[in-house]
Amino acid sequence: MSTPLLEATDISHTFDYPLFSHIDFTLYPKESIAIVGRSGSGKSTLLHIFSTFLKPLEGEVKLLDHRLLGLSEDEIETLRRYDIGIIFQFHYLFKGMSALENISVATMLSGEKVDEKILKKLQIDHLMSHKTSELSGGEQQRVSIARVLSKKPRIIFADEPTGNLDKETADLVMDVLLDYIRETESGLVLVTHDPQMAQMCDRIYALENRQLEVKKG
Ligand SMILES: Nc1ncnc2c1ncn2[C@@H]1O[C@H](COP(=O)(O)OP(=O)(O)OP(=O)(O)O)[C@@H](O)[C@H]1O
Ligand SMILES: [Mg+2]
Repeated sequence: MSTPLLEATDISHTFDYPLFSHIDFTLYPKESIAIVGRSGSGKSTLLHIFSTFLKPLEGEVKLLDHRLLGLSEDEIETLRRYDIGIIFQFHYLFKGMSALENISVATMLSGEKVDEKILKKLQIDHLMSHKTSELSGGEQQRVSIARVLSKKPRIIFADEPTGNLDKETADLVMDVLLDYIRETESGLVLVTHDPQMAQMCDRIYALENRQLEVKKG
């Protein structure tokens, strides 16, 4: 079997109360994994731990064969810039810039070209000259997804990426994400409240009773 993209071992974390304990999680190339669970169960926290933004109280995360604990700030920055793509529920586009300028910021940093194919698939190619403020919420969301994919990340972490989209557009976004990971041998970790979006993934875990319980796969 190929080397995992992400391997988390024995992860525990606590804020005001213990969120989860002794969690193991592995993501392989071309694999999509959904994490579901009640509001406040710690899904976003777990995603932050997997994606270098939070150190767990206990346990170890290996991303692309790097032990995060052993990396310098510069090395973590490099991982974030080239290898990790993060899609949040609330997009963060630069307001005064056009859609194309927003996407170009990311591709310039990672040394990639803007991928026309992805813009077409997301049905936003005709909106590139529009300013962020002239786009609808769902269009902005798709521009921010195009921005993430255009830098060609090896792992995508998506936290409710389809939360504010209609069903048809949400399906389209999921198709684009799943096509992307299959074509590029990357992986997807998706946090969602939407059972239909979760079902489109290879595996589903529910974060409950402080554990990841297997629901599919
Ligand atoms: N930086 C922080 N400091 C203190 N408590 C935090 C912090 N981040 C999250 N929490 C708490 O940890 C718990 C889990 O939060 P988290 O955002 O991971 O939940 P979630 O499962 O993503 O919920 P939702 O489905 O509502 O997005 C919450 O009770 C939250 O208040
Ligand atoms: Mg959350």
